[in-house]
Amino acid sequence: MTRKEQLSQAELLIKLKTEIRNEQSGIKLVPLTQGFLMTNYESLISQWEKFFSDKEVTKHLHPLTPFKKLGDGSEVKILVEEFLATKSSSSDSILFIIYHPDSTLPIGHLSLNGINSQSGSASRGIVIGEADFRYKGIGKIVGQMSIEHARKSGLKILKASAHSGNSASIANLTRQFGTGSLSTDQKEINFTLDLTS
Ligand SMILES: CC(C)(COP(=O)(O)OP(=O)(O)OC[C@H]1O[C@@H](n2cnc3c(N)ncnc32)[C@H](O)[C@@H]1OP(=O)(O)O)[C@@H](O)C(=O)NCCC(=O)NCCS
Repeated sequence: MTRKEQLSQAELLIKLKTEIRNEQSGIKLVPLTQGFLMTNYESLISQWEKFFSDKEVTKHLHPLTPFKKLGDGSEVKILVEEFLATKSSSSDSILFIIYHPDSTLPIGHLSLNGINSQSGSASRGIVIGEADFRYKGIGKIVGQMSIEHARKSGLKILKASAHSGNSASIANLTRQFGTGSLSTDQKEINFTLDLTS
């Protein structure tokens, strides 16, 4: 990778890594940085441990969540500490912490993964981890915020996928991305949104 390409990836990261607010709902998305993680360490770890041990959440996510990919392509489960530390210092993904005015603690996250300045693409994932805040239209608003933010920051393509049984996710993705396509193993529906049109 040349120095110029590295810089443009860095520039895209800087543009994307800013706080996003929705005035109407009061929802705030705060990018996880190393400094933010250190300042809020205990509460972030305990919230994400709770989210990732809730079957209502994990049944729709990768079975090893939280996990990482090794150099040989295999996947291993990791601790929440490592998950958050890795996200806070990643050069191709950003984890936005979701804050809602009715809770002092974070209620979930929006992740942008596989951010690639050359293709102008990224994949989004949303987790409303706090059970009391699920199915109240928050995932829909966060999804809309992610699209506006991605477009403003210069991304061209946003992707997402959902397990074929995840009706809440599919409802929001179909509304925001259009019709998805079923994966060959029929387990997932993949969505792509052209942010330039
Ligand atoms: C999927 C998820 C992000 C959706 O966010 P949410 O805030 O809970 O959902 P919303 O209220 O925005 O939207 C739910 C939509 O699904 C529908 N829905 C489907 N199943 C539902 C259920 N069990 N209860 C309530 N609504 C449901 C709603 O009717 C609504 O559609 P509508 O606006 O057309 O009426 C959230 O539920 C979540 O984090 N789930 C666990 C983790 C997960 O699945 N993440 C996504 C991985 S792809």
